[in-house]
Amino acid sequence: MCGGDGPHSYVRNSSYQKAAIECAKGKIKEAVLEKLDLFHMRSDLSTFKVADFGCSVGSNTIDTIQNIIETVKLKYQQRNIKIPQNHLEFHVFFNDKLNNDFNSLFKNVSRSIYKHCFIVGVPGSFYDRVLPRNTINIGHTSYALHWLSKVPQDVCNKKSSAWNKDSIVCSDLVEEVSNAYKVQFKKDMGDFLGAREEELVPGGLLIMSGMYLPNSVPMAHTWKGVAIDMIGDCLVDMANSGILSKEKVELFSLPLYFPHMSELEVVKQNERFSIEVFERVIHPMEGLPLTNDFIASLYRAVFHGLIEEYFGDGVVDELFDRYATKLATCSIDFQSRDKVLQYFIVLKHNVH
Ligand SMILES: C[S@@+](CC[C@H](N)C(=O)[O-])C[C@H]1O[C@@H](n2cnc3c(N)ncnc32)[C@H](O)[C@@H]1O
Repeated sequence: MCGGDGPHSYVRNSSYQKAAIECAKGKIKEAVLEKLDLFHMRSDLSTFKVADFGCSVGSNTIDTIQNIIETVKLKYQQRNIKIPQNHLEFHVFFNDKLNNDFNSLFKNVSRSIYKHCFIVGVPGSFYDRVLPRNTINIGHTSYALHWLSKVPQDVCNKKSSAWNKDSIVCSDLVEEVSNAYKVQFKKDMGDFLGAREEELVPGGLLIMSGMYLPNSVPMAHTWKGVAIDMIGDCLVDMANSGILSKEKVELFSLPLYFPHMSELEVVKQNERFSIEVFERVIHPMEGLPLTNDFIASLYRAVFHGLIEEYFGDGVVDELFDRYATKLATCSIDFQSRDKVLQYFIVLKHNVH
């Protein structure tokens, strides 16, 4: 994600994700009030611990954490739980990758800091353990699990039948490519749940929001698939103009994957968690026509770091100038595109 608070930053260009988070707010509140069992949760109830995995730089993570904190306070009141000195304290863990702009996150959090709330930045991949065992009462993640831990190896191997020759994302049009992404997603989701299982206290909740596709819909038929592939077309144009190496462009694929509904079975199969909520949510902007500027700003903020890391500095401006022109000439017909759906899942770490 693009850090800081400049015109291209994630903070200023994440209203799409924010709309989805707003939509989940009521559901999170409901889940915490109904599913959090404070009496059977094996942990010290005077310090309640919350973690957001893949938090980025704000303000979405801050809004979500505040919603969780307010709801937990309400739950304590409803259950009449008495705390020594009468102060329920919160320990909040913000996790993201090492290269996340944690400085901006801390500045944004400190502007809205909550009394009796202590915050910590936790750099590291959420596909591994990032917190001590048995610490977290509520874990949360939104719009992060479509980022795989890596691009599947064969997808970037010209000799493999899974080489993703014609796309920079899993378009679901080439079976071998799809299979390589599917295997990686399954492993990653298993690793994510395995790590959280150790970090959550028995009885703790794991709240997950993210994107998926109906079983029969290939990514290439959604507006997101089309929009991302246009970025790939611009990279090819830049290679043809001698600005980028052809070889590098041919081997570039994103570690991004939207699973199909059936692939979310991996969540249901994990026996250490019980499924408390498993719902489909429609993004409030899905199906609405988005402006070209909006799409370009959204993807620039999201892909900036990754593109710079792979192609080097100074590429992003040129790429997204070309992208704006491409979007203007081949505008996306939102009405005729298949929908990307959202899942809202709440798991409870089983008490043994
Ligand atoms: C689209 S942003 C979503 C941020 C925020 N949760 C929201 O809803 O606005 C995805 C975030 O996940 C983070 N992320 C991706 N893979 C990750 C990993 N393996 N470990 C930790 N964070 C990761 C990215 O760095 C990015 O900040």
